[in-house]
Amino acid sequence: MLERLNVLEKEALKTLKTTSDSDALAEWQKRYFGKKGALTTLLRSVGDLPAEDRPAFGKAANQVKQRLETAYEAHARDLRQAEVERSLERDRLDVTLPGRPIGPGHLHITTQTLREYFAIFAEMGFQVYEAPDVETDVMNFGMLNMPPHHPARDMWDTFYIDDDVILRTHTSPGQIRVMRERYPEPIRVVLPGKCYRYEQITARSEHQFYQLEGLAVGHAITMTYLIGTLTEFARRLYGPDRRLRIRSSYFPFTEPSIEADMDCILCAGAGCRMCKYSGWLEIAGAGMVHPVVLRNGGYDPEEWGGFAFGMGVERPAIVKYGIDDIRLFYSNDLRFLRQF
Ligand code: DAH
Repeated sequence: MLERLNVLEKEALKTLKTTSDSDALAEWQKRYFGKKGALTTLLRSVGDLPAEDRPAFGKAANQVKQRLETAYEAHARDLRQAEVERSLERDRLDVTLPGRPIGPGHLHITTQTLREYFAIFAEMGFQVYEAPDVETDVMNFGMLNMPPHHPARDMWDTFYIDDDVILRTHTSPGQIRVMRERYPEPIRVVLPGKCYRYEQITARSEHQFYQLEGLAVGHAITMTYLIGTLTEFARRLYGPDRRLRIRSSYFPFTEPSIEADMDCILCAGAGCRMCKYSGWLEIAGAGMVHPVVLRNGGYDPEEWGGFAFGMGVERPAIVKYGIDDIRLFYSNDLRFLRQF
């Protein structure tokens, strides 16, 4: 038995030296120390020995086991070290090379556009007010004079989270929030934000887009102020010669309601591809704040009046830069974003 132990140790040490990677090492470990391993089996056979030989065999066996374990650890360490050296050699790095510069990013085209708008409205006394993207059905529709089943709700295809909670389809519910917060002060704010509509995504329409809402509430506000504000905005953005065209329209939250068009910045009204040969570009839906909406915001319509407008943010940028696919605004493609 002792002889067998001896042979086993020599053989194990010899084969250990030939293992050259961690797989082979694990294999070796299993071969000698595994449940059915050679050493394990030999140790288990101590019972076959006469009782008086057992202590000596046990002692010798344990020493062999320990020596093999030590050898195993040392060899494993060597293999790991060799692997590190190989990988250093493989991934050789010249630390004296200059680094690749990581340029600072810049603002997204939508953010740039919005900030341009803020600056213009700020000069006309409008503050920026932010309202949440996730709204209630009541705020998005009900408070804006569209009770459940109002047919005008069909104008907005809505993402419902549950029966009451939705993703806002427009920035108009922010009007109610500002009014409730600011009452009884007069108000002049713009409300930027993302809106969501349950729509097929195509080159021409996204299910997410930005709007900029405007709201003015005061004691003597007339339609003239609304038209003046929109005209001034268009002129500061696109040049002093811009003309505005006002069309009558319908929104449940304004009375009367209008839509404002600006003469085409490319053809100045002559008709071209950009304005689809109409000579005009739509810039905003707007109107005088409906008495019901004022009341829902806490303002007595007998004493207060107001105007409101809502405009797209991507669309004008699309027109200005000739962008042919609205999806580019949301695809994080640096080749697109770096151009602005
Ligand atoms: N909320 C409207 C929309 O998303 C746009 C709009 C129209 C906003 C008229 C207004 C307004 O504040 O007065 O289509």
